[in-house]
Amino acid sequence: MTTPAAAAPMNIWNVHWDLDVAQCPCDVHFVEWLEAEGLSGKRVFHFGTGGHHYVGLRCAEPALACTVLGITASPPEYESFVTLATANPALTKSYSAYFGDIYTSNPRLLPRFDIVTLFHACEFRTPANDAYGALTDREVMDLFTAQTDAGGYLLFYTGSFAYASAEPLIADWAAAGLVEELAPFRTLRIFRKRG
Ligand SMILES: C[S@@+](CC[C@H](N)C(=O)[O-])C[C@H]1O[C@@H](n2cnc3c(N)ncnc32)[C@H](O)[C@@H]1O
Repeated sequence: MTTPAAAAPMNIWNVHWDLDVAQCPCDVHFVEWLEAEGLSGKRVFHFGTGGHHYVGLRCAEPALACTVLGITASPPEYESFVTLATANPALTKSYSAYFGDIYTSNPRLLPRFDIVTLFHACEFRTPANDAYGALTDREVMDLFTAQTDAGGYLLFYTGSFAYASAEPLIADWAAAGLVEELAPFRTLRIFRKRG
C-alpha cells in the first residue's frame, strides 16, 4: 500500500487546552444549558474538546446521559483522550473524541445529531486549510445543520475571540430559514432546526 504524498500538512492546533472558565466558559455554559432545559439522552457533536474533555465527561453522567462525539485538531488533546479512555473504558460507551480538522468534515463519516456546538467557528481556519481544499466556516455550518435532525439545536459562542467574524456568517446562515433563534443562554446563542 502506498501513502499519497501530502500536498500540505493539516492545520493542527498544537496546544493542550485546560478548562479555564474565566477565559473560555462555553463548555461549562453548554452543560448548564442542558441542565436548565432538562435535556438528556441527546446526541451531541462538540467542536473543540479541549484537553479537559469537560463536555464528554459531564454528558456521560446519568443525569444527562448524552452521547458526545467531539473533535480536536490538537495532538496532545487527542492523546489526553486516549489516556482518559484507557483508564475509563466505560466512558467510551457515550463519549468519543477524534482527531481531525472540522473543515474536512464529510457527512458520510458522521452520524445524525440532536445538538451541535460550533463554539469555535472562525477561530482557527486560515489559508493553511485552503491548501488542502478544506471547507469554509459557512460550509461547516451548513454541513452540520444538515446533519442535525429537525427540532435539534445548533449553538454558537458569543465570547469567542472570532465572534465578530462569525456573527455575519451566522446571520446569513440563519436568514436561509432552516433554523429559528431561541433565547440566548449566558454566552451562547441557541438555534433550533425547523421541522
Ligand atoms: C481554545 S480550545 C477550547 C476548548 C473547549 N471548547 C473550551 O472552551 O475549553 C479550542 C479547541 O478547538 C479545537 N480546534 C482548533 N482548530 C480545530 C479544527 N480545525 N478542527 C477541529 N477542532 C479544532 C482545539 O483542538 C481545541 O480543542
